[in-house]
Amino acid sequence: MRVKIQTKEKMNEEIAQLFIDTVNENPNCVLGLATGSSPLGVYSKLIEAYNDGKVSFKDVRTFNLDEYVGLSEDHEQSYRYFMNHNLFDHIDIAKENTHVPCGNVESEEGLDSYDNLIDEAGGIDLQILGIGSDGHIAFNEPGTSFDSLTHIAELAQSTINDNSRFFESIDQVPTKAVTMGLASIMKAKKIVLIATGESKADAVKGLLMGLITEKVPCSILRKHPDVTIYVDRDAYSKIK
Ligand code: F6R
Repeated sequence: MRVKIQTKEKMNEEIAQLFIDTVNENPNCVLGLATGSSPLGVYSKLIEAYNDGKVSFKDVRTFNLDEYVGLSEDHEQSYRYFMNHNLFDHIDIAKENTHVPCGNVESEEGLDSYDNLIDEAGGIDLQILGIGSDGHIAFNEPGTSFDSLTHIAELAQSTINDNSRFFESIDQVPTKAVTMGLASIMKAKKIVLIATGESKADAVKGLLMGLITEKVPCSILRKHPDVTIYVDRDAYSKIK
């Protein structure tokens, strides 16, 4: 695991360049994408690079990590809406090549078809991750099995609190999400994770130090052969 302590601007540049190089080397590569605040700077740099003619996403396939249960695709807080508005609508990707788990589900039956779809596409070449203040990656909250595949997760109260900033009131935040599991994420060939701000300092400590345990979902990343963690000084502040 590599750790890079950088400014937000520098990490956005470096990660965006990694995405651009991955796509230019293999125009029909498979990208694993995240929502939330963390990847936004990278997505705007990818749009800029596309507008400057430095990259085309015409044959790229993408898989997103998660989607809230109960929000329709056109709900402003759904992750499909987020991806369309913050990336897909501004680049030349074919919408049918973009995948976001369907949040319109009542049971877990058939959710493993999302993992099958990723496998059939050849697996994820490059996965971007954020991290929750409680150490979650995707919506795999503390206690999630390291063997988990795509499933329905109950959001931890801390995650509901953190995400309430995007909703008018906290009771509008969905309490469940469909999420790729920890085993699904670990299959990606290369992973980059962004953690910025003091609110991520405890999670970064759990990620880099201490036990590899299901109580700290992100700690599983230490078992992956190709992970780079991008942190700013505030997120790194609890590492001595
Ligand atoms: C989003 C996701 C989540 C976020 C995490 C951090 O698709 O999977 O794990 O990455 O909750 O969110 P931000 O980036 O908003 O701090």
